[in-house]
Amino acid sequence: MSQIPVVIIGAGPAGLMLSHLLHLQGVESVVIESQSRDEVEATVRAGILEQGTVALMRSTGVGDRLDREAEIDEGIQISIDGDLERIDLHKYTGHSVAVYPQHEVLIDLIEQRLTDGGEILFSTTVTHIEGHHTEAPVVHLQNSDGTENRVATSYVVGADGSRSLARQLLLADGAQRLKHEYPFAWFGVMVEAPQTHPELIYATHPDGFALISTRTPELQRYYVQCDPEDSVDMWSDDRIWSALHTRVDSDMVSVSEGKITDKAVLRFRSAVTSSMQSGRLFIAGDAAHTVPPTGAKGLNLAIADVALLAPGLARALKKGDDGLLNNYTSLALPRVWKAQHFSYWMSAMLHSAPTGDPADDLFQTHRRLAELRTVTSSDAGRQLLASQYVGLDLPTYEV
Ligand code: PHB
Repeated sequence: MSQIPVVIIGAGPAGLMLSHLLHLQGVESVVIESQSRDEVEATVRAGILEQGTVALMRSTGVGDRLDREAEIDEGIQISIDGDLERIDLHKYTGHSVAVYPQHEVLIDLIEQRLTDGGEILFSTTVTHIEGHHTEAPVVHLQNSDGTENRVATSYVVGADGSRSLARQLLLADGAQRLKHEYPFAWFGVMVEAPQTHPELIYATHPDGFALISTRTPELQRYYVQCDPEDSVDMWSDDRIWSALHTRVDSDMVSVSEGKITDKAVLRFRSAVTSSMQSGRLFIAGDAAHTVPPTGAKGLNLAIADVALLAPGLARALKKGDDGLLNNYTSLALPRVWKAQHFSYWMSAMLHSAPTGDPADDLFQTHRRLAELRTVTSSDAGRQLLASQYVGLDLPTYEV
């Protein structure tokens, strides 16, 4: 049985960034990931990095490719029934956001961990976590060829995504899972086409929402609101283009078309686990909380969790001081709830949620558009939206 101070389950943003931050503090860890490296590096996810995430990547030496390749956006566009309103993020906050997809962040973090001699066990499943209420937990592993292994450790971190095994243990220890389902979803497509607009467009229309985002100058990411029960085969290319043009096109923009290379339905869910720790076991990122995709807060919240957990673990392991670690949940949750609120608010303001009562549906559409216009037509409203969009500063704790 091998022995390592921190075992991290999951090579997503939370797990890899935690391993990187611990390494910078001189604390060794192993990352265990059920998927292969190729699968991890190819998974399509959201694409917006908050200012704090960008600052952390730069200050910890994993921001070079981001600085060369990411599109930096100083504003976003809100389209209300064809009228474009620009929210100047930079004017209201002094910050901007980076359009840099999640899998690119993972590619950079994996490369850095391996360069630094870090250990990532791909295609390896955690079958069992033993003894998280003792000082010496043991993590049981199974490789893809069926061989089994055990790792003895001081701390276990479940950064193992929304179907987290680690979370099950916290729920068994009394944590609660608070959650919300939304009556809408997104149909996401990847399109080989030139950019529609230099900035992201969040569009709302009586038919529903659409989002114009980007990946590279030649590859675009578009979403249209759909029903959560829709399947990929219900959306022909013609239906997608018709929905996008109806919801987004105006005198100022026309959605650029091209070959659709990927189609997927994204469900909308919010969930928060009331406690993110028990004994020597901690959870971070999607294992602890899920946000709907509007505003792209998921990765950024995962990074914020580990910006807190890394100094907490380093203080405990290097100085025997577990004060920060013991307060992990209470320090992390206020930010998690603010991000939940922002994602919920943006989602509710931009999507139609038909009730079946035509008079009520019209009432809701007009009320929703008025709410958006209230936000976009005052400095106070724009400032609120912009500051939430670029994100709060990350916590900084000395070790
Ligand atoms: C994306 O590009 O995937 C994206 C961008 C902004 C969002 C959500 C998703 O709010």
